[in-house]
Amino acid sequence: MTTVNTDKLSSARFAHATDAFVEIFTSSIDFDRRMAPQDIAGSLAHAKMLCTIGILTETERDDIIKGLNIISEEIEQGTFNWSIKQEDVHMNIEARLTELVGLAGKKLHTGRSRNDQVATDIRLYLRNEIGNINNQLSRLQNAILDLAEQEAETVMPGFTHLQVAQPVTFGHHLMAWFEMLCRDKERLQDCYKRINIMPLGSAALAGTSYPINRQMTADLLGFSRPSNNSLDAVSDRDFAIEFTAVGSMIMMHLSRFSEELILWASAQFDFIDIADAFCTGSSIMPQKKNPDVPELVRGKSGRVTGHLISLLMLMKGQPLAYNKDNQEDKEPLFDTADTLINSLRAFADMIPNISAKRENMYNAAKQGFATATDLADYLVGKGIAFRDAHEIVGLAVRLGVESNRDLSEISLPELQQFSVEIKQDVFEILTLEGSVAARKHIGGTAPDTVFAAIKAARELMLSE
Ligand code: ARG
Repeated sequence: MTTVNTDKLSSARFAHATDAFVEIFTSSIDFDRRMAPQDIAGSLAHAKMLCTIGILTETERDDIIKGLNIISEEIEQGTFNWSIKQEDVHMNIEARLTELVGLAGKKLHTGRSRNDQVATDIRLYLRNEIGNINNQLSRLQNAILDLAEQEAETVMPGFTHLQVAQPVTFGHHLMAWFEMLCRDKERLQDCYKRINIMPLGSAALAGTSYPINRQMTADLLGFSRPSNNSLDAVSDRDFAIEFTAVGSMIMMHLSRFSEELILWASAQFDFIDIADAFCTGSSIMPQKKNPDVPELVRGKSGRVTGHLISLLMLMKGQPLAYNKDNQEDKEPLFDTADTLINSLRAFADMIPNISAKRENMYNAAKQGFATATDLADYLVGKGIAFRDAHEIVGLAVRLGVESNRDLSEISLPELQQFSVEIKQDVFEILTLEGSVAARKHIGGTAPDTVFAAIKAARELMLSE
């Protein structure tokens, strides 16, 4: 006499119950229940389609719709009884549906499999998260634009190798961040195109013998089209890898912004103040005000890149088609979306709470011979070849270093030792204001150019 394990929907083939630990080990309900709204949406579309091809009667379809709506509510109210016995979100919902509506519930799984179901659910889930991420990206971009507008004329040192290089405007620096986020949005939209393709109907791997109408389910669920190949559709997680790759890039950008904010907020730079609400103190050092938000965001960038690598490794050894390995895709994906949304949100909230210490930025730009290139360009304007001009300015800088003076503090006769072409008007270009104002071509740092860039950016934001 064999015992039949009747707890599970997929159990009749088994003579013996699942090992208790294996049941826990293989179940995904603790994390995949987040996809319940998507799972229900998919089932609603599938049931409607099954009815149009005569697999379900209208009464059965309506029972299923009613049952799924009740389940939706139970989940929302927190009264739904999630059970590890039913392994995952798909089987939990189906089992409850059958409890609620009887036979009709048992017919819902006709012509589909959890393999196409889960692939569909993840795609629906990510579609939604991309919308949320995009909203936070827009909030951050708008905050950056506001600050850039306020600081379009603020002069600060621009750095290469973290050494003072040439003066720039703070607004221009902030608009560099804006550009990075524009590319992030484009990448997100591009990845969305490949997410928005429907696997449902691929069933376990080979499709189904029922005359299903995949175009109909795709339309009901807002997918651009049904997938082309059933084997590919149930096993493909390229879209998930792309999503984490785009996410890694976004987090890498936030991490770079963070690093700059942390440096600027330090006593050594002292370029900005981050409002108290976005900093914390130290439990031991009473004087400390730490830039925790950017530090934490910089730290969190690592875990998203980790998820990207996890998913690449998850997929690299898998033969077609679905394998249970794929259950491991969800936690990295969910955490990627959560980390992105939270980090972007914290950043968007923090940016309006940053104030520029304009005088300190200005004074820092005055150090480090930031207008040396301007002097070289001036000499080129007088007919000297750039390489020779570079040499002449090098000598002037050396004099400045030795006598502890900025180029603008060296007298005209002293400068003329290096080139007779240097005249009184040189002092106009040796000022920081003159230096930034001269860079007024498209993409330059001149305040007027920055104002124009902000205006164009605002129009772009409105057109999205
Ligand atoms: N929980 C599974 C997953 O996340 C659902 C699909 C399982 N399919 C199967 N035949 N075991 O991938």
